[in-house]
Amino acid sequence: MHHRPLGKTGLDVSALGYGAWGIGGSGWLGARDDESLRALRRAIELGVNFIDTAAAYGSGHSERLVGQAARDADDTVYVATKIPPKNGQWPARAGVPATEAFPGDWVVESTEQSLRNLGVDAIDVQQFHVWSDEWVGQGDWADAVAQLKRDGKIRFFGVSINDHQPANAPRLVESGLVDTVQVIYNVFDQSPEDELFPAVETAGVGVIVRVPLDEGGLTGRVRPDTTFPEGDFRNGYFGGDRKREVWERVQAIATDLDVPVERVPEIALLFCLSHPAVSTVITGMRSVENVERNAAFVDLGRLTDGQLEALRRHRWVRSFYGA
Ligand SMILES: NC(=O)c1ccc[n+]([C@@H]2O[C@H](COP(=O)([O-])OP(=O)(O)OC[C@H]3O[C@@H](n4cnc5c(N)ncnc54)[C@H](OP(=O)(O)O)[C@@H]3O)[C@@H](O)[C@H]2O)c1
Repeated sequence: MHHRPLGKTGLDVSALGYGAWGIGGSGWLGARDDESLRALRRAIELGVNFIDTAAAYGSGHSERLVGQAARDADDTVYVATKIPPKNGQWPARAGVPATEAFPGDWVVESTEQSLRNLGVDAIDVQQFHVWSDEWVGQGDWADAVAQLKRDGKIRFFGVSINDHQPANAPRLVESGLVDTVQVIYNVFDQSPEDELFPAVETAGVGVIVRVPLDEGGLTGRVRPDTTFPEGDFRNGYFGGDRKREVWERVQAIATDLDVPVERVPEIALLFCLSHPAVSTVITGMRSVENVERNAAFVDLGRLTDGQLEALRRHRWVRSFYGA
């Protein structure tokens, strides 16, 4: 598995990272802990050394599984987790002060809870789960982050940028207060290339790409007749006519690149990794099969300039969240 620098942190992270939302039991339903642990362990065995989780994923359940797998590993595994906003607002809204979402004592309290859930002494990358760029200079969150670093409880700090709002972070990126950003970047939403990626490259901020497969849309496995477990967030994300729309677009990608639909997940992951600003692509993989497939693509594959140019035509920025 090849590695890339995570900005200026000094950490070398695997190009393929592990996204641990799906195994937490909230939002995504249907995961089984024994299978999730097998998938996590296989990923680590194949060289994945970066895992993204959050306190909010199953109220710490995902953190507990990730902690178990990381502690059992022979090699170093870097874990990133997230602090939920105290006011429970996803995404962060303009005009709401930082003191409501991330007061300093909440930042410390949530970090202490994540340390207990993970069973570790220090978190490699602690992140805010939402971000509003108005918060630079507001409240006492930055003091709390600095104190957590001094106390050795977190090594690096980042934010998870609001869904499809990559331009809602430039002040933070330029402020020097942040080591990493986590952002949606995939064949459909290519908008981080416009402003965010040039800014992070200048500042030396690491980029953690999330939702590389559009919550499954870019796998070719979401088709008009696909169903999800009752209560699973994908019933809303792919609600109405969206399954048909996504499926047609995936077929168009396959036709344009002259590959079978089954190869679209591979194309989609390699697309994300083709941008030099990207450090790691955290992919949701609840089965050993998906871990093995993705590890193979990422290590062996590379897109041609012609394929990348073709993929530019499939840019489709929209938000299916919260609807
Ligand atoms: N606000 C935030 O901070 C935020 C929001 C969303 C996500 N995230 C992070 O980003 C991570 C990735 O996003 P995600 O997990 O939501 O979605 P994703 O990575 O875009 O897609 C995951 C889906 O793709 C499927 N898949 C993976 N590899 C495949 C392959 N080779 N062939 C076919 N299907 C494949 C998975 O199958 P299975 O269902 O079988 O696993 C799952 O259904 C999350 O786990 C989380 O860590 C953060």
